[in-house]
Amino acid sequence: MDKLFIITLLGLLILVNGVAENLVYNNFAMLEELENFEIDDEDDVELFDIPSWTSERGGKVLVNVDSFGAVGDGISDDTQAFVKAWGTACAIPKSVFLVPSGRRYLVNATRFKGPCEDKLIIQIDGTIVAPDEPKNWDPNLARLWLDFSKLNGVLFQGNGVIDGSGSKWWASSCKKNKSNPCRGAPTALTIDSSSAVKVTGLTIKNSQQMNFVISKSASVRISKVSVSSPGDSPNTDGIHITQSTNVVLQDCKIGTGDDCISIVNGSSAIKMKRIYCGPGHGVSIGSLGKDNSTGIVTKVVLDTALIRETMNGVRIKTWQGGNGYVRGVRFENVRMDNVDNPIIIDQFYCDSPKSCQNQTSAVRISEIMYRNISGTTKSAKAMKFSCSDTAPCSTIVLSNVNLEKEAGTVETYCNSAEGFGYGIVHPSADCLTSHEKDYSFFEQTEVSQDYILNDVTEEKVELADSNNDRIVHTEL
Ligand SMILES: *[C@@H]1O[C@H](CO)[C@@H](O)[C@H](O)[C@H]1NC(C)=O
Ligand SMILES: *[C@@H]1O[C@H](CO)[C@@H](O)[C@H](O)[C@H]1NC(C)=O
Ligand SMILES: *[C@@H]1O[C@H](CO)[C@@H](O)[C@H](O)[C@H]1NC(C)=O
Ligand SMILES: *[C@@H]1O[C@H](CO)[C@@H](O)[C@H](O)[C@H]1NC(C)=O
Ligand SMILES: *[C@@H]1O[C@H](CO)[C@@H](O)[C@H](O)[C@H]1NC(C)=O
Ligand SMILES: *[C@@H]1O[C@H](CO)[C@@H](O)[C@H](O)[C@H]1NC(C)=O
Repeated sequence: MDKLFIITLLGLLILVNGVAENLVYNNFAMLEELENFEIDDEDDVELFDIPSWTSERGGKVLVNVDSFGAVGDGISDDTQAFVKAWGTACAIPKSVFLVPSGRRYLVNATRFKGPCEDKLIIQIDGTIVAPDEPKNWDPNLARLWLDFSKLNGVLFQGNGVIDGSGSKWWASSCKKNKSNPCRGAPTALTIDSSSAVKVTGLTIKNSQQMNFVISKSASVRISKVSVSSPGDSPNTDGIHITQSTNVVLQDCKIGTGDDCISIVNGSSAIKMKRIYCGPGHGVSIGSLGKDNSTGIVTKVVLDTALIRETMNGVRIKTWQGGNGYVRGVRFENVRMDNVDNPIIIDQFYCDSPKSCQNQTSAVRISEIMYRNISGTTKSAKAMKFSCSDTAPCSTIVLSNVNLEKEAGTVETYCNSAEGFGYGIVHPSADCLTSHEKDYSFFEQTEVSQDYILNDVTEEKVELADSNNDRIVHTEL
């Protein structure tokens, strides 16, 4: 229905305004592409069509960390056992790297490198726990704990737990205590420079800093992953995606002290479906453009989410002075529950002890759609489109947005933001400017209301297509 709707909008637009049609059409190009943007999970099944390891069929080779001397008492250092087991599992086709259930394995910062032989399964049923003392952390691996790289066609599964034991790291963060130096801390689980990777069932918690990072990877499927860190743990992003394409996150439950999901530079074709977020800072694109850097993010869809008791709902954040662009984003079917800033674009993002100066360059933001977003806001400004004066946001489209505050009225804040709304938009988004006069067309005409408020059936679209004269006549 919604795809048809967009096409109908475009059709009507072109009918009415022959001159500006190309310009306007281009403004929607990426949004329209998003309507067709389905990352079909079934496409990848073949890659992952691996029977469970418990089955003897398929000639699985079980590589149990216990057979390599792991103790699993949570006290003995099992790092070497894991390293040896990895070396073995990686070198044998169809092997299963097994972390058995019911035990706690203490493992130091470790790189698990590929490439490996085909059809490796990493079966994590037990708990892997990090040493909790930052002072003893290997300085050569300062930013990582369990780091998997150069894998192709690998399945991570099991109902085990990856526990970063982060509390001492949090206490030593400069966010917690300004007299601490600002230093990066390890990421609990990293999948880097890999392709065709599936992760399902795992729990990642109490990471030293970010919980789960997907970097420089393609074709990644994350499902039924749960991430939890306390709401006041600093910079503990749930799932962070950087320089990666074709990534699907679904059925994930994330509660952290920072963004539940953050998507940054070099990422494209990212789909998030059925996400629970809270506590945390919401689902974010960015930050981008820090220190005058280039940030590019395109084609992102969040479809079906419950965002509860978070600082932000759906956010795009960029620093002043950056370059690049965010283009083609759709947030839809999102329920907000007591969220500080449910819908926010912040082009003045400044997560630094020093204040940030406004600059002339900025990461450009365009073709951002919010559709079927409802629920409650904590702040009166339920929607904020705070865009750079020198690089206004363009083509922000709102449809069926309804945000309420428990007590008091709600409003929309705009700075240099261009776009329009249709259907119910509450609070009203009249502060969005429209540099194309045509946009007002959608809001004013009876026909457009008709298409907006009722289901757009195939017939209606056909009508619009095949009976142009009549439609135009009705309009005018
Ligand atoms: C982990 O590595 C550090 C630094 O290399 C070392 O001091 C420590 O003994 C290792 N093991 C544990 C369990 O921390
Ligand atoms: C902050 O860190 C300083 C230096 O490490 C310490 O003396 C102080 O007690 C800490 N403050 C709090 C509130 O933890
Ligand atoms: C942004 O991503 C691109 C593409 O992956 C990469 O080449 C570039 O180095 C990245 N820039 C920054 C500042 O990380
Ligand atoms: C970014 O560019 C601005 C304007 O050219 C300059 O004043 C500033 O120092 C630059 N910042 C960094 C971190 O390079
Ligand atoms: C709107 O979003 C809510 C929350 O995700 C969902 O329950 C509902 O089915 C959606 N409505 C439509 C018409 O898709
Ligand atoms: C930057 O520009 C915005 C929008 O015009 C303005 O609200 C803000 O005060 C400016 N910030 C600084 C530090 O000048």
